[in-house]
Amino acid sequence: MGGLKKKVAIRTFGCQMNVADSEQMARVLAADYVLTDRPEEADLLLINTCAIRRKSEEKVLSLLGRLKAFKKRRPGLIIGVGGCVAQQEGERLLKAIPHLDLVFGTHGIYRLPELVKRAEQERTVDIGLSSCFPEAPGHEWPAGRVQTLVTIMQGCNNFCSFCVVPYVRGREFSREPADIEAEVKSFLAAGGKEVTLLGQNVNSYGRGLAEPVTFMELVRRLAALPGLARLRFATSHPKDLSDELIESFGELPALCEHLHLPVQSGSDRILKAMNRRYTREHYLDKVGRLKQVCPELNLSTDLIVGFPGETEEDFQDTLALMREAGFGQSFSFKYSPRPNTRAAEFPDQVPEPVKAERLRRLQAVQDELTLAAHRRLLGQVKEVLVEGPSKKSAGQLCGRLRTNQVVNFTGPQELAGRLAMVEITEAHPHSLKGRWVQEAPAR
Ligand code: SAH
Ligand code: SF4
Ligand code: F3S
Repeated sequence: MGGLKKKVAIRTFGCQMNVADSEQMARVLAADYVLTDRPEEADLLLINTCAIRRKSEEKVLSLLGRLKAFKKRRPGLIIGVGGCVAQQEGERLLKAIPHLDLVFGTHGIYRLPELVKRAEQERTVDIGLSSCFPEAPGHEWPAGRVQTLVTIMQGCNNFCSFCVVPYVRGREFSREPADIEAEVKSFLAAGGKEVTLLGQNVNSYGRGLAEPVTFMELVRRLAALPGLARLRFATSHPKDLSDELIESFGELPALCEHLHLPVQSGSDRILKAMNRRYTREHYLDKVGRLKQVCPELNLSTDLIVGFPGETEEDFQDTLALMREAGFGQSFSFKYSPRPNTRAAEFPDQVPEPVKAERLRRLQAVQDELTLAAHRRLLGQVKEVLVEGPSKKSAGQLCGRLRTNQVVNFTGPQELAGRLAMVEITEAHPHSLKGRWVQEAPAR
Protein backbone atom coordinates (compact mmCIF):
# COMPACT_ATOMS: atom_id res chain seq x y z
CA MET A 1 0.00 0.00 0.00
CA GLY A 2 1.43 3.34 -1.14
CA GLY A 3 0.13 5.03 2.01
CA LEU A 4 2.49 3.00 4.17
CA LYS A 5 5.68 4.14 2.53
CA LYS A 6 8.35 5.53 4.80
CA LYS A 7 9.62 9.09 4.48
CA VAL A 8 13.00 10.34 3.29
CA ALA A 9 14.38 13.88 3.66
CA ILE A 10 17.40 14.87 1.58
CA ARG A 11 19.58 17.90 2.30
CA THR A 12 21.84 18.96 -0.56
CA PHE A 13 25.08 20.96 -0.46
CA GLY A 14 27.35 21.83 -3.39
CA CYS A 15 26.98 22.10 -7.14
CA GLN A 16 24.25 21.26 -9.65
CA MET A 17 25.78 17.82 -9.99
CA ASN A 18 24.82 17.18 -6.38
CA VAL A 19 21.35 18.62 -6.95
CA ALA A 20 20.88 16.14 -9.81
CA ASP A 21 22.30 13.32 -7.67
CA SER A 22 19.88 14.09 -4.82
CA GLU A 23 16.97 13.82 -7.24
CA GLN A 24 18.32 10.51 -8.41
CA MET A 25 18.51 9.33 -4.77
CA ALA A 26 14.82 10.10 -4.32
CA ARG A 27 14.04 8.21 -7.55
CA VAL A 28 15.94 5.05 -6.67
CA LEU A 29 14.29 4.99 -3.23
CA ALA A 30 10.78 5.72 -4.55
CA ALA A 31 9.56 2.11 -4.15
CA ASP A 32 9.89 2.34 -0.35
CA TYR A 33 10.10 6.04 0.46
CA VAL A 34 8.24 9.25 -0.29
CA LEU A 35 10.17 12.49 -0.25
CA THR A 36 9.43 14.97 2.52
CA ASP A 37 10.87 18.44 3.05
CA ARG A 38 10.38 18.11 6.84
CA PRO A 39 13.41 16.34 8.31
CA GLU A 40 11.70 16.04 11.70
CA GLU A 41 9.18 13.55 10.27
CA ALA A 42 11.70 11.54 8.21
CA ASP A 43 12.55 7.85 8.73
CA LEU A 44 15.62 8.29 6.57
CA LEU A 45 17.73 11.43 6.47
CA LEU A 46 20.30 11.79 3.69
CA ILE A 47 22.90 14.55 3.54
CA ASN A 48 24.52 15.04 0.13
CA THR A 49 27.84 16.78 0.73
CA CYS A 50 30.40 18.99 -1.02
CA ALA A 51 34.16 19.05 -0.47
CA ILE A 52 35.19 21.74 -2.95
CA ARG A 53 36.42 24.21 -0.30
CA ARG A 54 37.15 23.82 3.39
CA LYS A 55 34.14 25.97 4.23
CA SER A 56 31.82 23.62 2.30
CA GLU A 57 33.16 20.72 4.33
CA GLU A 58 32.85 22.56 7.64
CA LYS A 59 29.18 23.34 6.95
CA VAL A 60 28.51 19.64 6.52
CA LEU A 61 30.38 18.64 9.67
CA SER A 62 28.55 21.19 11.79
CA LEU A 63 25.17 19.98 10.44
CA LEU A 64 26.11 16.37 11.15
CA GLY A 65 26.94 17.31 14.73
CA ARG A 66 23.51 18.90 15.18
CA LEU A 67 21.78 15.75 13.92
CA LYS A 68 22.59 13.93 17.15
CA ALA A 69 19.49 15.51 18.71
CA PHE A 70 17.33 14.20 15.82
CA LYS A 71 18.50 10.69 16.40
CA LYS A 72 17.73 10.96 20.13
CA ARG A 73 14.18 12.05 19.41
CA ARG A 74 13.62 9.36 16.79
CA PRO A 75 15.73 6.34 17.67
CA GLY A 76 14.65 4.42 14.52
CA LEU A 77 15.89 7.21 12.25
CA ILE A 78 18.58 6.22 9.75
CA ILE A 79 21.09 8.98 8.96
CA GLY A 80 23.17 8.61 5.80
CA VAL A 81 25.89 10.85 4.37
CA GLY A 82 26.61 10.78 0.66
CA GLY A 83 28.42 12.88 -1.92
CA CYS A 84 31.92 14.28 -2.08
CA VAL A 85 32.82 14.55 1.62
CA ALA A 86 31.54 10.99 2.12
CA GLN A 87 33.71 9.82 -0.77
CA GLN A 88 36.73 11.65 0.62
CA GLU A 89 36.36 10.60 4.26
CA GLY A 90 34.66 7.17 4.06
CA GLU A 91 35.18 5.11 7.21
CA ARG A 92 36.67 8.13 9.05
CA LEU A 93 33.23 9.81 9.06
CA LEU A 94 31.61 6.79 10.73
CA LYS A 95 34.36 6.78 13.34
CA ALA A 96 34.11 10.51 14.01
CA ILE A 97 30.29 10.68 14.18
CA PRO A 98 28.74 7.96 16.35
CA HIS A 99 25.13 8.77 15.36
CA LEU A 100 25.79 8.15 11.65
CA ASP A 101 24.39 4.92 10.16
CA LEU A 102 25.53 5.07 6.56
CA VAL A 103 28.31 6.62 4.48
CA PHE A 104 27.94 6.24 0.71
CA GLY A 105 30.16 7.72 -1.99
CA THR A 106 29.43 9.62 -5.18
CA HIS A 107 28.92 6.38 -7.13
CA GLY A 108 26.81 4.66 -4.48
CA ILE A 109 23.49 6.26 -5.37
CA TYR A 110 22.14 3.34 -7.38
CA ARG A 111 22.99 0.92 -4.56
CA LEU A 112 21.09 3.04 -2.01
CA PRO A 113 18.04 0.76 -1.51
CA GLU A 114 20.23 -2.17 -0.43
CA LEU A 115 22.64 0.09 1.49
CA VAL A 116 19.81 1.57 3.52
CA LYS A 117 18.52 -1.94 4.34
CA ARG A 118 22.00 -2.92 5.47
CA ALA A 119 22.35 0.26 7.52
CA GLU A 120 19.15 -0.71 9.40
CA GLN A 121 21.07 -3.75 10.67
CA GLU A 122 24.64 -2.43 11.00
CA ARG A 123 26.64 0.74 10.38
CA THR A 124 27.64 0.70 6.72
CA VAL A 125 30.24 2.30 4.41
CA ASP A 126 30.30 2.05 0.60
CA ILE A 127 32.67 4.33 -1.27
CA GLY A 128 33.34 2.06 -4.25
CA LEU A 129 33.86 3.88 -7.57
CA SER A 130 32.46 2.52 -10.83
CA SER A 131 33.28 3.28 -14.44
CA CYS A 132 29.92 3.33 -16.20
CA PHE A 133 26.37 4.51 -15.67
CA PRO A 134 24.02 1.77 -14.51
CA GLU A 135 20.89 1.29 -16.56
CA ALA A 136 18.46 3.62 -14.87
CA PRO A 137 14.79 2.65 -14.96
CA GLY A 138 12.40 5.32 -16.25
CA HIS A 139 10.80 7.57 -13.66
CA GLU A 140 7.91 9.97 -13.29
CA TRP A 141 8.35 13.74 -13.42
CA PRO A 142 6.83 15.93 -10.72
CA ALA A 143 3.73 17.76 -11.96
CA GLY A 144 4.35 21.26 -13.30
CA ARG A 145 8.08 20.78 -13.62
CA VAL A 146 9.45 22.87 -16.53
CA GLN A 147 13.21 22.68 -16.03
CA THR A 148 15.49 19.79 -15.28
CA LEU A 149 19.13 18.81 -14.93
CA VAL A 150 20.32 15.77 -16.88
CA THR A 151 23.65 14.22 -15.92
CA ILE A 152 25.55 13.17 -19.05
CA MET A 153 28.90 12.23 -17.55
CA GLN A 154 30.67 11.59 -14.29
CA GLY A 155 34.13 12.37 -12.98
CA CYS A 156 37.00 14.45 -14.28
CA ASN A 157 40.45 13.72 -15.73
CA ASN A 158 41.78 17.26 -15.71
CA PHE A 159 43.48 17.48 -12.34
CA CYS A 160 43.55 21.25 -12.04
CA SER A 161 46.08 21.66 -9.24
CA PHE A 162 43.59 23.24 -6.81
CA CYS A 163 40.69 20.86 -7.31
CA VAL A 164 39.45 17.92 -5.30
CA VAL A 165 36.84 16.77 -7.83
CA PRO A 166 38.95 14.13 -9.66
CA TYR A 167 39.63 12.53 -6.26
CA VAL A 168 36.04 12.50 -5.05
CA ARG A 169 34.25 11.85 -8.35
CA GLY A 170 36.72 9.50 -9.98
CA ARG A 171 37.77 9.28 -13.64
CA GLU A 172 35.63 10.57 -16.44
CA PHE A 173 32.98 8.36 -18.08
CA SER A 174 29.96 9.16 -20.23
CA ARG A 175 26.36 8.08 -20.27
CA GLU A 176 24.94 6.39 -23.38
CA PRO A 177 23.39 8.98 -25.73
CA ALA A 178 20.30 6.82 -26.19
CA ASP A 179 19.66 6.88 -22.40
CA ILE A 180 20.13 10.65 -22.27
CA GLU A 181 17.78 11.15 -25.21
CA ALA A 182 15.16 8.86 -23.66
CA GLU A 183 15.26 10.84 -20.42
CA VAL A 184 14.95 14.17 -22.22
CA LYS A 185 12.08 12.87 -24.36
CA SER A 186 10.17 11.61 -21.33
CA PHE A 187 10.65 15.03 -19.69
CA LEU A 188 9.33 16.82 -22.77
CA ALA A 189 6.37 14.43 -22.99
CA ALA A 190 5.52 15.40 -19.38
CA GLY A 191 5.47 19.10 -20.33
CA GLY A 192 9.12 20.00 -19.65
CA LYS A 193 10.68 22.91 -21.55
CA GLU A 194 14.26 23.49 -20.42
CA VAL A 195 17.10 21.01 -19.99
CA THR A 196 20.59 21.62 -18.56
CA LEU A 197 23.14 18.93 -19.43
CA LEU A 198 25.60 18.30 -16.61
CA GLY A 199 29.17 17.11 -16.39
CA GLN A 200 32.42 18.45 -14.90
CA ASN A 201 33.81 18.87 -18.38
CA VAL A 202 31.02 18.36 -20.93
CA ASN A 203 33.28 19.09 -23.91
CA SER A 204 34.97 15.73 -23.52
CA TYR A 205 31.63 13.90 -23.48
CA GLY A 206 31.45 10.63 -25.38
CA ARG A 207 35.14 9.75 -25.60
CA GLY A 208 35.09 6.37 -23.84
CA LEU A 209 31.77 5.08 -25.16
CA ALA A 210 31.61 1.81 -27.14
CA GLU A 211 30.45 3.93 -30.07
CA PRO A 212 32.10 7.31 -29.41
CA VAL A 213 29.98 10.42 -29.95
CA THR A 214 31.10 14.03 -29.60
CA PHE A 215 29.42 16.53 -27.31
CA MET A 216 28.46 18.51 -30.39
CA GLU A 217 26.65 15.50 -31.84
CA LEU A 218 24.76 15.00 -28.60
CA VAL A 219 23.79 18.69 -28.45
CA ARG A 220 22.54 18.63 -32.06
CA ARG A 221 20.46 15.51 -31.42
CA LEU A 222 18.82 16.97 -28.33
CA ALA A 223 18.37 20.49 -29.70
CA ALA A 224 16.30 19.00 -32.53
CA LEU A 225 13.76 17.35 -30.22
CA PRO A 226 10.30 18.86 -30.67
CA GLY A 227 9.10 20.71 -27.56
CA LEU A 228 12.56 21.52 -26.20
CA ALA A 229 12.48 25.32 -25.91
CA ARG A 230 15.76 25.76 -24.06
CA LEU A 231 18.97 23.79 -23.84
CA ARG A 232 21.92 24.68 -21.59
CA PHE A 233 25.00 22.83 -20.43
CA ALA A 234 27.59 23.08 -17.67
CA THR A 235 30.48 22.99 -17.23
CA SER A 236 32.57 23.68 -20.23
CA HIS A 237 36.36 23.72 -19.90
CA PRO A 238 37.85 26.56 -22.01
CA LYS A 239 40.65 24.35 -23.37
CA ASP A 240 38.13 21.92 -24.89
CA LEU A 241 35.49 24.31 -26.20
CA SER A 242 35.46 23.39 -29.89
CA ASP A 243 35.05 25.77 -32.84
CA GLU A 244 32.02 23.77 -33.87
CA LEU A 245 30.35 24.29 -30.50
CA ILE A 246 31.20 28.01 -30.58
CA GLU A 247 29.50 28.32 -33.96
CA SER A 248 26.43 26.40 -32.86
CA PHE A 249 25.50 29.31 -30.56
CA GLY A 250 24.48 31.22 -33.62
CA GLU A 251 22.75 28.25 -35.26
CA LEU A 252 20.73 26.08 -32.91
CA PRO A 253 17.52 27.84 -31.84
CA ALA A 254 17.12 25.79 -28.63
CA LEU A 255 20.63 26.55 -27.40
CA CYS A 256 20.34 29.44 -24.92
CA GLU A 257 22.46 32.56 -25.30
CA HIS A 258 24.28 31.77 -22.08
CA LEU A 259 27.58 30.02 -21.44
CA HIS A 260 29.34 29.25 -18.19
CA LEU A 261 33.03 29.22 -19.02
CA PRO A 262 35.17 29.13 -15.85
CA VAL A 263 38.41 31.08 -16.36
CA GLN A 264 39.74 30.95 -12.75
CA SER A 265 42.47 33.58 -13.33
CA GLY A 266 43.56 36.19 -15.86
CA SER A 267 47.28 35.61 -15.31
CA ASP A 268 49.17 33.18 -17.54
CA ARG A 269 51.61 32.38 -14.78
CA ILE A 270 48.79 31.40 -12.40
CA LEU A 271 46.84 29.55 -15.10
CA LYS A 272 49.94 27.46 -15.70
CA ALA A 273 50.40 26.71 -11.99
CA MET A 274 46.70 25.79 -11.87
CA ASN A 275 47.27 23.30 -14.72
CA ARG A 276 44.39 24.79 -16.68
CA ARG A 277 46.17 24.30 -20.04
CA TYR A 278 45.00 27.50 -21.75
CA THR A 279 46.36 31.03 -21.75
CA ARG A 280 44.63 34.33 -21.22
CA GLU A 281 44.94 34.95 -24.96
CA HIS A 282 43.31 31.59 -25.88
CA TYR A 283 40.48 32.30 -23.51
CA LEU A 284 39.84 35.81 -24.80
CA ASP A 285 40.09 34.58 -28.38
CA LYS A 286 37.29 32.06 -27.73
CA VAL A 287 35.21 34.74 -26.03
CA GLY A 288 35.71 37.05 -29.02
CA ARG A 289 34.50 34.38 -31.43
CA LEU A 290 31.52 33.52 -29.24
CA LYS A 291 30.45 37.16 -29.15
CA GLN A 292 30.87 37.38 -32.90
CA VAL A 293 28.51 34.48 -33.62
CA CYS A 294 26.14 35.42 -30.79
CA PRO A 295 26.35 39.08 -29.76
CA GLU A 296 23.68 38.62 -27.08
CA LEU A 297 25.61 35.84 -25.33
CA ASN A 298 25.76 36.20 -21.55
CA LEU A 299 29.02 34.79 -20.33
CA SER A 300 29.42 33.64 -16.74
CA THR A 301 32.54 32.35 -15.06
CA ASP A 302 34.26 31.04 -11.93
CA LEU A 303 37.24 32.87 -10.41
CA ILE A 304 39.70 32.00 -7.68
CA VAL A 305 41.63 34.69 -5.79
CA GLY A 306 44.73 34.11 -3.71
CA PHE A 307 45.96 30.99 -5.50
CA PRO A 308 49.49 30.21 -4.17
CA GLY A 309 51.99 32.67 -5.60
CA GLU A 310 49.35 35.15 -6.88
CA THR A 311 50.84 38.65 -6.80
CA GLU A 312 49.01 41.97 -6.97
CA GLU A 313 50.03 42.10 -10.63
CA ASP A 314 48.52 38.66 -11.36
CA PHE A 315 45.37 39.78 -9.61
CA GLN A 316 45.25 42.96 -11.71
CA ASP A 317 45.42 40.73 -14.79
CA THR A 318 42.32 38.93 -13.54
CA LEU A 319 40.41 42.20 -13.03
CA ALA A 320 41.40 43.37 -16.51
CA LEU A 321 40.31 40.09 -18.08
CA MET A 322 36.93 40.33 -16.36
CA ARG A 323 36.33 43.67 -18.02
CA GLU A 324 37.63 42.50 -21.37
CA ALA A 325 35.44 39.38 -21.37
CA GLY A 326 32.51 41.39 -19.97
CA PHE A 327 31.22 38.67 -17.66
CA GLY A 328 27.54 39.05 -16.88
CA GLN A 329 27.93 36.97 -13.74
CA SER A 330 30.73 35.29 -11.83
CA PHE A 331 31.16 32.94 -8.91
CA SER A 332 34.30 33.89 -7.03
CA PHE A 333 36.14 32.12 -4.26
CA LYS A 334 39.15 32.50 -2.01
CA TYR A 335 41.60 29.72 -2.77
CA SER A 336 41.20 26.90 -0.24
CA PRO A 337 43.87 24.17 0.05
CA ARG A 338 42.31 20.72 -0.47
CA PRO A 339 43.51 17.28 0.55
CA ASN A 340 45.52 15.37 -2.10
CA THR A 341 45.76 18.32 -4.47
CA ARG A 342 49.13 19.60 -5.70
CA ALA A 343 48.51 23.29 -4.99
CA ALA A 344 47.96 22.54 -1.29
CA GLU A 345 51.70 21.74 -1.15
CA PHE A 346 52.83 24.86 -3.06
CA PRO A 347 55.16 26.98 -0.90
CA ASP A 348 53.92 30.55 -1.40
CA GLN A 349 50.40 30.39 0.07
CA VAL A 350 48.67 33.80 0.13
CA PRO A 351 47.69 35.13 3.59
CA GLU A 352 43.96 35.10 4.42
CA PRO A 353 43.53 38.91 4.76
CA VAL A 354 45.03 39.40 1.27
CA LYS A 355 42.63 36.83 -0.19
CA ALA A 356 39.69 38.50 1.55
CA GLU A 357 40.66 41.94 0.29
CA ARG A 358 41.14 40.70 -3.31
CA LEU A 359 37.79 38.93 -3.21
CA ARG A 360 36.08 42.17 -2.16
CA ARG A 361 37.72 44.14 -4.96
CA LEU A 362 36.91 41.47 -7.52
CA GLN A 363 33.28 41.30 -6.46
CA ALA A 364 32.99 45.09 -6.71
CA VAL A 365 34.16 44.88 -10.35
CA GLN A 366 31.66 42.09 -11.03
CA ASP A 367 28.80 44.04 -9.45
CA GLU A 368 29.58 46.90 -11.76
CA LEU A 369 29.68 44.61 -14.84
CA THR A 370 26.47 42.81 -13.86
CA LEU A 371 24.56 46.03 -13.29
CA ALA A 372 25.78 47.41 -16.63
CA ALA A 373 24.59 44.22 -18.38
CA HIS A 374 21.23 44.48 -16.62
CA ARG A 375 20.88 48.14 -17.66
CA ARG A 376 21.43 47.19 -21.30
CA LEU A 377 18.27 45.07 -21.07
CA LEU A 378 16.07 47.99 -19.95
CA GLY A 379 13.12 48.59 -22.23
CA GLN A 380 13.64 45.33 -24.16
CA VAL A 381 10.94 42.69 -24.47
CA LYS A 382 12.41 39.27 -23.66
CA GLU A 383 11.28 35.67 -23.40
CA VAL A 384 10.94 34.43 -19.82
CA LEU A 385 10.41 30.85 -18.73
CA VAL A 386 8.09 31.37 -15.78
CA GLU A 387 9.11 29.27 -12.81
CA GLY A 388 6.26 30.29 -10.48
CA PRO A 389 5.37 32.88 -7.84
CA SER A 390 8.26 35.12 -6.83
CA LYS A 391 9.70 34.27 -3.40
CA LYS A 392 10.79 37.86 -2.83
CA SER A 393 7.97 40.04 -4.14
CA ALA A 394 4.45 38.99 -3.14
CA GLY A 395 1.98 38.80 -6.02
CA GLN A 396 4.73 38.70 -8.65
CA LEU A 397 5.98 35.90 -10.85
CA CYS A 398 9.57 34.82 -11.25
CA GLY A 399 11.44 33.35 -14.18
CA ARG A 400 14.63 33.41 -16.19
CA LEU A 401 15.65 34.88 -19.50
CA ARG A 402 17.35 32.69 -22.10
CA THR A 403 20.50 34.58 -21.07
CA ASN A 404 19.91 33.25 -17.52
CA GLN A 405 19.12 36.44 -15.60
CA VAL A 406 16.31 36.27 -13.03
CA VAL A 407 13.26 38.46 -13.70
CA ASN A 408 10.45 39.24 -11.25
CA PHE A 409 7.40 40.58 -13.01
CA THR A 410 3.71 41.31 -12.73
CA GLY A 411 1.40 39.17 -14.82
CA PRO A 412 -1.42 36.60 -14.61
CA GLN A 413 -0.63 33.70 -12.22
CA GLU A 414 -1.65 31.15 -14.90
CA LEU A 415 1.63 31.91 -16.68
CA ALA A 416 3.51 29.64 -14.23
CA GLY A 417 5.31 26.94 -16.22
CA ARG A 418 4.87 28.78 -19.53
CA LEU A 419 6.99 30.98 -21.77
CA ALA A 420 6.03 34.65 -21.64
CA MET A 421 7.22 37.88 -23.23
CA VAL A 422 8.18 40.39 -20.57
CA GLU A 423 9.34 43.99 -20.87
CA ILE A 424 12.32 44.75 -18.65
CA THR A 425 11.47 47.81 -16.57
CA GLU A 426 14.02 47.87 -13.71
CA ALA A 427 17.65 46.81 -13.49
CA HIS A 428 18.92 45.78 -10.03
CA PRO A 429 22.34 44.42 -9.06
CA HIS A 430 21.11 40.81 -8.75
CA SER A 431 17.84 40.72 -10.63
CA LEU A 432 15.55 42.43 -13.06
CA LYS A 433 11.97 43.62 -12.81
CA GLY A 434 9.49 43.55 -15.63
CA ARG A 435 5.96 43.71 -16.92
CA TRP A 436 4.14 40.96 -18.80
CA VAL A 437 3.44 41.86 -22.42
CA GLN A 438 2.06 38.71 -24.05
CA GLU A 439 2.50 34.96 -24.32
CA ALA A 440 5.60 33.86 -26.17
CA PRO A 441 5.16 32.61 -29.74
CA ALA A 442 5.19 28.79 -29.90
CA ARG A 443 8.58 27.23 -30.63
N1 SAH B 1 34.37 21.57 -13.50
C1 SAH B 1 34.32 22.92 -13.32
C2 SAH B 1 34.34 23.43 -11.89
C3 SAH B 1 34.05 22.56 -10.73
S1 SAH B 1 34.30 23.22 -9.15
C4 SAH B 1 35.49 23.54 -14.08
O1 SAH B 1 36.28 22.88 -14.64
O2 SAH B 1 35.63 24.75 -14.08
C5 SAH B 1 33.52 24.80 -9.18
C6 SAH B 1 34.43 25.94 -8.92
O3 SAH B 1 34.92 25.91 -7.59
C7 SAH B 1 35.68 25.97 -9.76
O4 SAH B 1 35.44 26.47 -11.04
C8 SAH B 1 36.59 26.86 -8.96
O5 SAH B 1 36.43 28.21 -9.29
C9 SAH B 1 36.13 26.62 -7.53
N2 SAH B 1 37.11 25.84 -6.80
C10 SAH B 1 37.50 24.58 -7.02
N3 SAH B 1 38.46 24.20 -6.15
C11 SAH B 1 38.69 25.27 -5.36
C12 SAH B 1 39.57 25.53 -4.26
N4 SAH B 1 40.43 24.60 -3.84
N5 SAH B 1 39.54 26.74 -3.67
C13 SAH B 1 38.69 27.70 -4.12
N6 SAH B 1 37.83 27.51 -5.12
C14 SAH B 1 37.82 26.32 -5.75
FE1 SF4 C 1 38.13 20.44 -11.03
FE2 SF4 C 1 39.50 21.22 -13.14
FE3 SF4 C 1 38.05 19.00 -13.25
FE4 SF4 C 1 36.85 21.36 -13.16
S1 SF4 C 1 38.17 20.61 -14.80
S2 SF4 C 1 36.33 19.56 -11.97
S3 SF4 C 1 38.20 22.55 -11.85
S4 SF4 C 1 39.85 19.32 -11.98
FE1 F3S D 1 31.24 20.04 -4.44
FE2 F3S D 1 31.42 17.60 -5.30
FE3 F3S D 1 30.20 19.43 -6.75
S1 F3S D 1 33.00 18.70 -4.29
S2 F3S D 1 31.26 21.28 -6.23
S3 F3S D 1 29.54 18.70 -4.79
S4 F3S D 1 31.39 17.74 -7.52
